[in-house]
Amino acid sequence: MSTVETARNSQYFIDLEDQHGAHNYHPLPVVLDRGEGVFVWDVEGKKYYDFLSAYSAVNQGHSHPKIVSALVDQAQKLALTSRAFYNSKLGEYERKITTLFGFDKVLPMNSGAEAVETSVKLARKWSYEVKGISENAAKIIVCENNFHGRTTTIVSFSNDPDANQNYGPFTPGFIKIPYNDAKALEEALAKEPQNIAAFLVEPIQGEAGVYVPDEGFLKKASELCKQYNVLFIADEVQTGIARTGRLIACHHENVQPDILILGKALSGGMYPVSAVLANNHIMNVIKPGQHGSTFGGNPIACAVAMAALDVVEEEKLSEKSESLGQLFRSEIEKLMTKTNLITKVRGKGLLNAILINDTPESSTAWNLCLKLKENGLLAKPTHGNIIRLAPPLVISEEQLLDCVKIIEKTILEYK
Ligand SMILES: Cc1ncc(COP(=O)(O)O)c(C=O)c1O
Repeated sequence: MSTVETARNSQYFIDLEDQHGAHNYHPLPVVLDRGEGVFVWDVEGKKYYDFLSAYSAVNQGHSHPKIVSALVDQAQKLALTSRAFYNSKLGEYERKITTLFGFDKVLPMNSGAEAVETSVKLARKWSYEVKGISENAAKIIVCENNFHGRTTTIVSFSNDPDANQNYGPFTPGFIKIPYNDAKALEEALAKEPQNIAAFLVEPIQGEAGVYVPDEGFLKKASELCKQYNVLFIADEVQTGIARTGRLIACHHENVQPDILILGKALSGGMYPVSAVLANNHIMNVIKPGQHGSTFGGNPIACAVAMAALDVVEEEKLSEKSESLGQLFRSEIEKLMTKTNLITKVRGKGLLNAILINDTPESSTAWNLCLKLKENGLLAKPTHGNIIRLAPPLVISEEQLLDCVKIIEKTILEYK
């Protein structure tokens, strides 16, 4: 094989990563080289439907022309000034995002984890300076099986041993309750109401395996938070930006969180952009010099995020996600009558998962994903026997039905 051919071979790139990169991921053996809309191509030129969408970052589809233009135009004009100066994009972006989501203020950051960290700091500061919690006594209630990112503080309140084993000592000040359990929340609030600053929750637990809470849970939780003067923080890094069939998943229950965390698809996956939104009585506790980031609010991020939000509105992605999600689940339910390999399909909008009829320790879901890959669709198990299925929201009905056929063929042929 010539040098050029070797350089184009998937195994070459897999070996490079294996040798020179930290082994903190376990990717499917596919090397992606190009993307457009719902499709990605590997280095050998094979085309796949992307059913992971970079963990719901690419809701607007790969390389959306409008978002690419925003990125290129802004990069050619002004990339970064840091917040030591004003820039001509930030204010416009701040007005757009706060108007769209209905908050007074936004605090721009880069990654989802950074935004979660920001919300923790904001809630604590608010609790000392507004609620009046005594120094260092503030606690934040979180849910079991949460996934909020990878920083030291965030993994401190994870109960996934992969996420936090041997990363201690951990940050104190978090109380864990079962997910989807309003009674447990009420008990935790009632136990020490004077010390609770916030309740941090994913409206659907994505990484845990697309756990959709019972209808009414988010509403009840937000009411309890109001009753106890506790901030309701919604981590919509994965569920936000039209993924679940609404602009944010909290809108399914007409809940407006006190603090909203966004990331991932806020940039259409084009650039790391995250945001924390809150009203003045909360956000104004942070004063100059008390929080920040070199890249947070940079002109490229602002231009890209504005374009990404435009695409969501112009292409009616929430509406598409809602109707195609219903179609998808009903098609999978039909498939379930022909196989016992799938025990459940669940989700909202185009954030869905199928449960594979085997133990979480088994390799069945992984092997199925390898077969799906062979058949032209990329998805990955999350937590053993659960396969998350989350295509870009720009997918057409025809494409979605084509994907259902691929899933059906793979499942029915699986031995
Ligand atoms: C709900 C939620 N919060 C936070 C994060 C962390 O985002 P990032 O990987 O950009 O730090 C994720 C990532 O998957 C997530 O799903």
